[in-house]
Amino acid sequence: MKSNQPIGIFDSGIGGLTVAKAVKDVLPNESIIYFGDTAHLPYGDKSTAAIQAYSVRIAELLLKQKCKVILIACNSASSAAYDLVTEYVGKKAKVFDVINPTVDFIREHYQDENVGLIGTKQTVSAGVYARKIAELKQNIQFKSLATPLLVPMIEEGIYDDDISRNIIGKYLNDPTLESIKSLILGCTHYPIIKEQIRTHYASLNKEVEIIDSAETVALTLKSFLEYNQLINKEKSPIERFLVSDFTESFEKTTKIFFNKEVDLELLSIWDELN
Ligand code: DGL
Repeated sequence: MKSNQPIGIFDSGIGGLTVAKAVKDVLPNESIIYFGDTAHLPYGDKSTAAIQAYSVRIAELLLKQKCKVILIACNSASSAAYDLVTEYVGKKAKVFDVINPTVDFIREHYQDENVGLIGTKQTVSAGVYARKIAELKQNIQFKSLATPLLVPMIEEGIYDDDISRNIIGKYLNDPTLESIKSLILGCTHYPIIKEQIRTHYASLNKEVEIIDSAETVALTLKSFLEYNQLINKEKSPIERFLVSDFTESFEKTTKIFFNKEVDLELLSIWDELN
């Protein structure tokens, strides 16, 4: 691995740009190749086998671009395919998902606590967070809730009005999450509604800490690159944003997730990338 090689980031779509942004915020000089599998979006409702097949193929594309790191930004893909992608990639690159860094963060900061998680159906039913937190053997009560309306809601740009407040409130008031003291945002899209979630709990005078898995993985990646002297020192890092299906609405929505519009390049996951 060489320091000037890019970081490959992939997601089911453009929501993973929240993770790309978190990475850029702490590692501004890194080159990034982002792949959003918009042709197969959403992963949250797909079978494990389908997500595994897509993820391995995308990892192959990113390896051909000589990425030093492959970051699985999607929680659903992290749940379904992290082990397989890690095995496939071997020593050619370092693979990160968004779950392990978050579980490490919980191990360090939360011991006797009630921790909650919201995510897609796939992330919640796969139970990977639940299993890994149980393996910590700490006195943590873990509760998770699938919140499938949040992804389409945010993608429609509905995240700060009465409709979104009602939907967010309905989910967060679910009895499953009643006694939690911290909440993992287990989906690429949820950093966008972080403030709204905070406001919801503040309005109830409830103290619930929000754990943003995008930020957690970005900091873990930074430590890894520093420790292994893999921080890019060359000037003018590149940024490429590829999607497997293109519509103008995808391009417009990038602004919600990356804070600026980006030029999307179209590439089927079965094509080769130059
Ligand atoms: N990227 C997905 C995740 O983080 C959300 C969107 C989808 O279901 O594909 O779970």
